[in-house]
Amino acid sequence: MAGDIERGRLKLEWARTHMPVLEGIRRRFESERPFTGLTISAVLHVEAKTCLLALALQAGGADVHLAAGNPLSTDDDAVVAVREAGIETLAEKGESLARYRAGILAMLDADPDVIIDDGADLVALAHTARSERGKIRGSTEETTTGVTRLRALERAGKLRFPAIDVNDAEMKHLFDNRYGTGQSTLDGIFTATNLLIAGKVCVVAGYGWCGKGVASRLHGLGGDVVVTEVDPVRALEARMDGFRVMPMLDVAPSADLIVTVTGTTGVVRAEHLRVLKDGCLLANAGHFDVEVSKKDLERLAVSHRPARPNVEEYRFADGRRAYLLGEGRLINLAAGQGHPVEIMDLSFALQALSAEHLAKYGRSMEPRVHPVPAPLDRAVAEAALAPMGVRIDRRTEEQERYATEWEGGTS
Ligand code: ADE
Repeated sequence: MAGDIERGRLKLEWARTHMPVLEGIRRRFESERPFTGLTISAVLHVEAKTCLLALALQAGGADVHLAAGNPLSTDDDAVVAVREAGIETLAEKGESLARYRAGILAMLDADPDVIIDDGADLVALAHTARSERGKIRGSTEETTTGVTRLRALERAGKLRFPAIDVNDAEMKHLFDNRYGTGQSTLDGIFTATNLLIAGKVCVVAGYGWCGKGVASRLHGLGGDVVVTEVDPVRALEARMDGFRVMPMLDVAPSADLIVTVTGTTGVVRAEHLRVLKDGCLLANAGHFDVEVSKKDLERLAVSHRPARPNVEEYRFADGRRAYLLGEGRLINLAAGQGHPVEIMDLSFALQALSAEHLAKYGRSMEPRVHPVPAPLDRAVAEAALAPMGVRIDRRTEEQERYATEWEGGTS
């Protein structure tokens, strides 16, 4: 669908109003121009908040190119508004896989100095479609899934440039993964279904930071939350957080809603579909559309049809129905509006500062996965507290001395 420029401008304005941390960085970039002469290619979920990141980088002097991180996550209104600012943006909601892949390839063809990635698709391509590093100084990565892929490249000794793991910064996963995914996943489920959570058996597959957020929000709405896990520590954590924990096969016959948040594949598959409760909703909040097996759904179902926008009804031979939301793609962006604005303010502030770090130091950094430098993480926390009107205590001199003594010199 063609975007509407007026709606797009308003969406960007709304986001800017609620992204004070990124706005502060944009203003500094405008005066310091840290990206002068540099090209930045970003593969991200292209919606209003993302466009503000792109505009902040552009204000810093970068030639910015943007492509979709998922065929269903684009906001076409935001696309036309950011194009108006002169940013090449290759993204359209519902685009074909071929166009989606062509968009990512074009990001590489732009010959970037810095890469910003969400899921490591662009980094993966930089390692397969090219024989050299080119002038890439480094990349930043937004998600757990992307970091897993980067670490695999690193372990294999194949990573060609430094990659900053934004996902594991404190100001990212404690807020974006937990509260962002928690709220926006429900936003997507509500928009797609218009159904009630209270009183339903809600299964959350995976109890990482994202799963914790989804489970807590479902519980808050009166859902009867059951967690499935493969990791015994996380299973114990879920149990002590008050949730029932059991294998997927045991809970599937009573599940009203299953949300997959694992980062792995085939979490809901044939064996579960065979015993699934009639009418169960299947939603995925993980990065790739592999957590609910669409292959198994199509193989076992005798028919399927759209029930509502973003809801596909699958009917089995015995009459039971399963409802797949958003084609099994990440539901918060496929049917919802992505993470809340204030959350993306924090995540994209980290992205902007990490990109600046790579622009400055990338050429001398080792080709491995690097954490976000701690001072940048803290700077984002401090910048986020101020507009909320939250002040905190400072250590006294005595506490500083105490910390130096007991924390090995850190303060
Ligand atoms: N909006 C832009 N990027 C996003 C992401 N990775 N998750 C949720 N919402 C987003």
